Amino acid sequence: MEIQPNFNFTQFDIKLETETVGRNFLYFTELDSTNAFLLDKTNQDQSGTVVFAEKQNAGRGRFQNVWESAKGQNLTFSILLNIDKHIKDKLNILNLGTSQILAATLENLFQVQVEVKWPNDILIKKKKIAGILIETVSFGANIKKAAIGIGINVNQTQFLGEFNLPPTSLRLELSQTIEREKVLAEFLNNFEELLWKVKNKPNVVMQNWREKCHMIGEKICLNQNGKLKYGVFDDVDETGQLLFRTDKGIEVINYGDVTVVQ
Ligand code: BTN
Repeated sequence: MEIQPNFNFTQFDIKLETETVGRNFLYFTELDSTNAFLLDKTNQDQSGTVVFAEKQNAGRGRFQNVWESAKGQNLTFSILLNIDKHIKDKLNILNLGTSQILAATLENLFQVQVEVKWPNDILIKKKKIAGILIETVSFGANIKKAAIGIGINVNQTQFLGEFNLPPTSLRLELSQTIEREKVLAEFLNNFEELLWKVKNKPNVVMQNWREKCHMIGEKICLNQNGKLKYGVFDDVDETGQLLFRTDKGIEVINYGDVTVVQ
């Protein structure tokens, strides 16, 4: 027998304290991908719209990976953002800032240590608890809208398949069932604040991110499309790009996957 997903809208609503983010909330039991829904399939144009799916049949991850998530147990959702002049050059900062506030949300709600891995993996005890995928649609040379796609492993206890990073969930880490509505509402509250900060205080966003990243100063392996390079995670610059130090100097890196090496 299939377990029916059980999302308590009243609880979610009570805890949501935003002005705009999540006020237009589209709930689906099944979709291909919440990112795809917002960018390809609708003419939704209200910034802050959240589309939520209990199950994605083609959930998208970074580097063309599939994001697998068991039906009704986790949080898979996307936030629509209309891109204006205040944010168009700051999507990288928004990307890092989103991972930082997601880490902080989980820490504050559950008193658990959460770290971020450049650019936007969220880890508990080196295992992946959540991922972020920002996708955009452009009109000519201008980015018109973005979908901030978030997957958080909440109550799933078994993960089948092969993963670059071992997955975990809040339930596995905390040994208790977690109220998804509380996590979602609190994250959206923090996200609305983040949007203001990205526009008005981007340096503070970057500094907060640095404090949650345990890789700075570590030796790392950078993987760019299968090409491996070794060096030191020197820092991130004010736009969120990785400053990668090798004996040839500092290279500014804007994509790739990094792992700490001993
Ligand atoms: C990653 O690879 O770490 C990013 C995963 C992002 C998954 C989320 S789930 C909701 C949204 N819709 C998608 O298709 N992907 C993102």
